[in-house]
Amino acid sequence: MIIISSSGEMQAQAIQLRQKSMRIGLVPTMGFLHDGHMSLVRIARKMSDIVVLSSFVNPTQFGPAEDFNKYPRNEGQDDRLCELEGVDIVFRPSAGEMYAKDHSVYVEEMDLSSGLCGQSRPGHFRGVTTIVAKLFNIVLPQIAVFGRKDAQQARVIEQLVRDLNFPIKIVLGQIIREPDGLAMSSRNSYLSANERERAVGVYKSLCIAADLYRNGVSDTATISNRIRSSLEKECRPDSIDYIDIVDYMTLKKVDKITIKSLIAVAVRIGHTRLIDNVVLPSEDNQY
Ligand code: PAJ
Repeated sequence: MIIISSSGEMQAQAIQLRQKSMRIGLVPTMGFLHDGHMSLVRIARKMSDIVVLSSFVNPTQFGPAEDFNKYPRNEGQDDRLCELEGVDIVFRPSAGEMYAKDHSVYVEEMDLSSGLCGQSRPGHFRGVTTIVAKLFNIVLPQIAVFGRKDAQQARVIEQLVRDLNFPIKIVLGQIIREPDGLAMSSRNSYLSANERERAVGVYKSLCIAADLYRNGVSDTATISNRIRSSLEKECRPDSIDYIDIVDYMTLKKVDKITIKSLIAVAVRIGHTRLIDNVVLPSEDNQY
């Protein structure tokens, strides 16, 4: 496994690999890796000859009051996990390497980014689409793997690839959960023991929604209300950013679950913002 920090060197390697007809699979991350990330590496490993994991805490996707400065890092542990999973290249650039002082070009998705997390995190998706477009141009992958944990991000990236004609196949991996159901996240490390216990209520509330749907309730107002009362009881969140039920493709709110719908929640427990989601009707047993 090699670790590359220069984007020029990464791109030169990628060009050479492609000249040798190697299929490059990219897993973009912000590091502090857990099994959710590694599940994406395993998908990339199966689908490509060379797996590149990028690790970069991208400043442009954090708001001024967000956790950029305290985002957790553990490069040694990340490298060990990557080695174990057969990652070929870790691309870990510095902020200066990715953003010139006078960087002035951004990529912005104008529709799917506006609701859900886009509402409570203005500018977030502009940062995500910009860094992902840059990573695509540097790593030159044929395949890029993202997680369904960030369902809106996944849809925004699918749209980025379609609308800007990136010749890249986007593959989505299932949400990987802790044994009690909490979706794995680098940010879970911020939770105190008490907050960690409450955090499992996020998943429980989504299970209640899925059960209601399975029992014939498709009215989204009823389902949202039940999610809210379950969150308030189990999770006691400091605030609820949103509980939204949207069409999976357009991310627009729906009144009834008739076609593939995304039930997404974002809550704050203490200072930690947690997101989770479920897709109904469930094709792939993801809850
Ligand atoms: P990060 O939060 O590190 O997540 C990297 C990838 O791992 C994303 O595609 C995310 O959806 C996926 N992921 C995180 N937790 C997961 C889980 N429990 N199960 C399955 N997949 C999971 O998302 C980002 O970084 C950044 O926005 C990035 C795309 C790298 C751009 O900076």
